[in-house]
Amino acid sequence: MHDKSISGFSKKSKEQKAAWLATHFLEDSVGESVQTLTQFWLRDRSLQETLDGFSENTISNFPMPYGIAPNFLINGQMYAVPMVTEESSVVAAAASAAKFWLPLGGFHTKVVGTVKLGQIHFKWKGTEERWKTLFPALCEKLILEATHLSANMAKRGGGISAIKYFRNPAISEDYYQIRVRFETCDSMGANFINSILEQFAATLKQWANTAPELKETERSLDIIMAILSNYTPECVVKTWVSCSLKAMEATLKTRDDVRHFARKFETAVHVAIHDPYRAVTHNKGIFNGIDSVVLATGNDFRAIEACGHAYAARDGQYRSLSKCSIENDQFYFELEMPLAIGTVGGLTNLHPLAKLSLDILQNPTAEELMQVIAATGLAQNFGALRSLVTTGIQAGHMKMHLQNILNHLGANTEQKKEAATYFANKPVSFSSVRQFLGIEE
Ligand code: MEV
Repeated sequence: MHDKSISGFSKKSKEQKAAWLATHFLEDSVGESVQTLTQFWLRDRSLQETLDGFSENTISNFPMPYGIAPNFLINGQMYAVPMVTEESSVVAAAASAAKFWLPLGGFHTKVVGTVKLGQIHFKWKGTEERWKTLFPALCEKLILEATHLSANMAKRGGGISAIKYFRNPAISEDYYQIRVRFETCDSMGANFINSILEQFAATLKQWANTAPELKETERSLDIIMAILSNYTPECVVKTWVSCSLKAMEATLKTRDDVRHFARKFETAVHVAIHDPYRAVTHNKGIFNGIDSVVLATGNDFRAIEACGHAYAARDGQYRSLSKCSIENDQFYFELEMPLAIGTVGGLTNLHPLAKLSLDILQNPTAEELMQVIAATGLAQNFGALRSLVTTGIQAGHMKMHLQNILNHLGANTEQKKEAATYFANKPVSFSSVRQFLGIEE
């Protein structure tokens, strides 16, 4: 069993790491797997080193398709949106929804708030009455002793905006939490927030040990942890599209009448508001768009996902992040969600493609990027629902899937053309395509 363990793996060269893996986990004596790994190494050594520097124990790169969804009109400005996704139809659906809304005024957006949060969790043996009287002076001390960390952000207009404390006897009788509100300007702010919180924790501990105003029985203070919260319900953006049913009729390419389409669309959203089973899939579709832009711009998609889903369940039931209404023949479709992202710091400027994405988006501020990402999420949701309530999604999906299967089976250009016609109205599967190409199972 232990012949598969290793120490000093991180110290080995990339070649050694790959060779060790091939021998111990891939039963590959001829080095085929090593070849699979090395074919994705970049020829530009310095660029490869940059990529390797983002993570640890790297043995290769994992390429993902980088696509563009053009024709996004957002608040009167045109955007071509960079999207990184491995799923067929996502970019096509976003692009088609963007084009749909272009003559109808495009996407409108509004940043509702940009507050980020951090927490220090600790245990303290004193009474809450005492804590209440001690807290104001302690806050001043916390802020003062973190000045060296917050000064730069303060110059840019951000920093610590408020400090509150909470208790929660369900955790334990002596549990306390200090919750800090931050403004982090154009950065996502994770490093800034965590550095401040760790400084706060150090100050807090030292205060408990030495503050003359504390009684000896009040000196016992145990820091549990200090970390930002990825739940940012006050860092929220809203985006919406709206048009009259009459205007929609001209743009809609469906045989259904527009009123019927719009009502079905509205019902589909209502289903996702009330039924969590549908809501998860519905929101997953929104995140198809959101994550693609978050990734393309070097932001943290795990944080965005975790927060978005928590927000979707903020009233105790998991619901759709988007809503839809039709009043006086006016169609209105809106997405409201938290998006804590940045356009400076982190990978945004270090990853050459993330930097290029920001260039493509005309170097947005964090607030502008929140709006572009949200609009892409709403477009994605519109595209998915439009397909679902009309043709179903398999038609579009299968067209792309057919191409993937044909590529996998080594079809030539002529065969691909013929397959597109042949499968226009037939079910696509690996075996049906194999059969079509005359390949034995
Ligand atoms: C597939 O990745 C996303 C959809 O399932 C979203 C939805 O059902 O709304 C099409």
